[in-house]
Amino acid sequence: AGEQAAAADRARALLEREGAALVAHYYVDAALQELAEQTGGCVGDSLEMARFGRDHPARTLVVAGVRFMGETAKILSPGKRILMPDLDATCSLDLGCPAEEFAAWCDAHPDRTVVVYANTSAAVKARADWVVTSSIALDVIAELHARGEKILWAPDRHLGDYVQRQTGADMLLWRGSCVVHDEFKGTELELMRAEHPRARVLAHPESPAAVLAQADVVGSTTQLIDAARKLDTQVLIVATDQGILHKMRAQAPGKTFLAAPTAGDSATCKSCAHCPWMAMNAVSNLADALAGGRHEIRLDPALGLRAKAPIDRMLDFAE
Ligand code: 13P
Ligand code: SF4
Repeated sequence: AGEQAAAADRARALLEREGAALVAHYYVDAALQELAEQTGGCVGDSLEMARFGRDHPARTLVVAGVRFMGETAKILSPGKRILMPDLDATCSLDLGCPAEEFAAWCDAHPDRTVVVYANTSAAVKARADWVVTSSIALDVIAELHARGEKILWAPDRHLGDYVQRQTGADMLLWRGSCVVHDEFKGTELELMRAEHPRARVLAHPESPAAVLAQADVVGSTTQLIDAARKLDTQVLIVATDQGILHKMRAQAPGKTFLAAPTAGDSATCKSCAHCPWMAMNAVSNLADALAGGRHEIRLDPALGLRAKAPIDRMLDFAE
């Protein structure tokens, strides 16, 4: 505990020395989330992180999350220095959607509006008409559908399928998935619900359809935390990365949180309910990045500019 406190003190001093703001996701280590809050930074879902980074006056942002979150910050603020605790913190959705293959797919469907999830590389975003996060995907697709547009959607197939069923939009789906959410199982969830008949289910929309069909609330990480606080129930079953429980417990003290079931146990299933890339973020490597000015996100400015237009479209829509 003493070591952790010393690491946090060092990181706090370096954030101050560098005039840097810490922008963290709910899936990272609780100590990082606390550090962000104590130092005037932000803990949020992907949309909130993007907006906070864009609007904050600091010239250096440290993004504790995964690579696409750091890239989004750089795209929105090319003049700021964006550091990350570990630049190798990627995302299976990003890895599963290589830019060249994606561009060929877009070329094959020129009549469709291209909507990509934020969990993608800058090169993929640069090819899109719209970027969306989980908090706003449903609203954006409903609007595009109302305008009569047909959609090309990438990369998360579960979120795409969910949005398609909710809106009735004409969507072609890329076949990507999240290694964490893909593991949640519908049948085992039914059994858990039978054991806890009063429990409510909170699910992130990257979860499979059989899980989403049983959810009382489907939403982004922030939307799920809000629901945990507001729902009039004592027991909540949570189908998302368990890093979120730190904030849920703080917002809904006294409630019981159960991890939604996955196929394997923790010995056989490495990414069950915790993202291996989010886990690469720690107070110590955040401090090291700040001390040495290391792990800086660098992007070709022309590419960044092209990727910015579809993100701006989302942010304008959200406002
Ligand atoms: P949110 O935008 O809901 O925070 O989701 C980001 C993510 O990577 C979920 O796995
Ligand atoms: Fe990507 Fe899944 Fe990790 Fe989120 S939890 S960053 S979608 S791999």
